[in-house]
Amino acid sequence: MSVALSLRPLGKALGTEVVGVDVLRPFDAATLEWIDRAFAEHPVMVFCNQRLGPAELAAFGAQFGRPQPHILEQYRHPDRADVSYITNVDKAGGIDRFGVTRASTWHTDETYEDALPRLAILHALEVPSARGGTMFADMRAAYDALSEAMRRRLEGLVGLHGRSNGPDGVKLYGETYVRATEKMRPERRHPAVKKHPVTGRPVLFVNPTHTHAFEDIAADEAVRLIQELRDHATQERFVYYHAWRVGDVVMWDELATMHRGAGDARPEERRIMLRTIVHPF
Ligand SMILES: [Fe+2]
Repeated sequence: MSVALSLRPLGKALGTEVVGVDVLRPFDAATLEWIDRAFAEHPVMVFCNQRLGPAELAAFGAQFGRPQPHILEQYRHPDRADVSYITNVDKAGGIDRFGVTRASTWHTDETYEDALPRLAILHALEVPSARGGTMFADMRAAYDALSEAMRRRLEGLVGLHGRSNGPDGVKLYGETYVRATEKMRPERRHPAVKKHPVTGRPVLFVNPTHTHAFEDIAADEAVRLIQELRDHATQERFVYYHAWRVGDVVMWDELATMHRGAGDARPEERRIMLRTIVHPF
C-alpha cells in the first residue's frame, strides 16, 4: 500500500482537503479505495493546485461513476457533453446575467430526475478577487439534529421535485421561467428522508429549489415545511463556505449535502469553472 495522503479539515461542518494527491493522473487501486472510504465520511473534498482540462475532469470523475451531460445544453463544453461551464461570462466576453445568479439557492443537483447523481465536481479556472464561494450544508447532521416530532412527521413523507418550482427556485428564476421549464420535465417523487447507500446514515432530502410539495400535504403547508427544513439545515453549524482559489477541485456527495453558489461576488469579475455530475456505476 503506497498511499501517502492525508486529510485536513477546512470547515467546522464540512470541507476536507485531501493533501498529497495529483488528480491529473488516474489513481492506483489503493489510492482510489482510500479516497472512496474517506469520501463517505467527508462528503465535501477539496484537492488544491490542480490543472485539469475537460477530458481530465471527466476522467477524474469517471473513477467514481458515470459523468453525465447536464440538462442546460448551452453551458455544455463544446468538446465534452459530460462537462459543463459554470460561468458568469457569456460567449462574447460580457456578463452572463443568468450565470451570475444561477444555482444561488440551496439545492441538490438534478433531484428533478429519477436517477440521482452520486456526486459532482467543480474545478476553478478563474475566480473573482473576493467572495464568489460555494456553500455546502451537511444534510446528515441536519437530519440528526431534527426534533423527534419532526422526524416522525417526515417518516414516510414523499417530496415532489420539479425543475425549479420550489419556493426558492420561483423566487430566484421568476414565475415565467419556472412555468416554461416545468413543462419540459415530469415531476419526480423522492422520500423526504433517504438512507445513504454507503454509510447507511439517514439524510434529509428536501431542497427549496426543486422540492415544491409533498404528497398528502396541503400546498401552503408544504411550502412552509420546505422553508422550515431549509432554515434548519442551513444554520451556520451545518454549513461550509468554500472560498475558491484557481486550481481547486471540489467534489461533493450529492446525497449527503445540499449546496448553492454564494452569489456574493462582483458580477463583472470573471468566475469560470468546469463542472461534471457523476452518476453511480
Ligand atoms: Fe448545483
